[in-house]
Amino acid sequence: MIAIGCDHGGYELKEHIKKHLDEIGAEYKDYGVYSEESVDYPDCARPVCEAVLDGSAEKGILVCGTGIGISIAANKFKGIRAAHCTDVYSASMAKQHNNANIICLGGRITGRELAFMIIDAWNNAEFQGGRHAARVAKIHEIEE
Ligand code: RB5
Repeated sequence: MIAIGCDHGGYELKEHIKKHLDEIGAEYKDYGVYSEESVDYPDCARPVCEAVLDGSAEKGILVCGTGIGISIAANKFKGIRAAHCTDVYSASMAKQHNNANIICLGGRITGRELAFMIIDAWNNAEFQGGRHAARVAKIHEIEE
């Protein structure tokens, strides 16, 4: 299951992403927000990060206006590796090398079709492990 969330700046793109996930048959849960009323993006990151960390979601998608604020907030949660991506190659590498468990997008930056390609590249990629696992472990050592 993919947890998905956004702030007001990401609401429109999040709704398009949900349609895309429906089309590809991916299971997801929408953790809000549910309108374009102004909210604070750290509050929107929290439920998606918590779902990933408690195992109720396998991975997460977060969208704010730029993708920046919500990724900064998500990366404060211990165990979250949130990758802010604006291109397909980075999205694939975010999984292959960084084992990113959340991908972040900017609803005011990235067009919907590119966003779908970015999500698919990350969602379909496999973590390569090996030396990359050792590097990811070092990230989590920093958290301790
Ligand atoms: C909200 O206006 C905007 O600041 C937010 O969506 C995001 O872009 C922050 O990084």
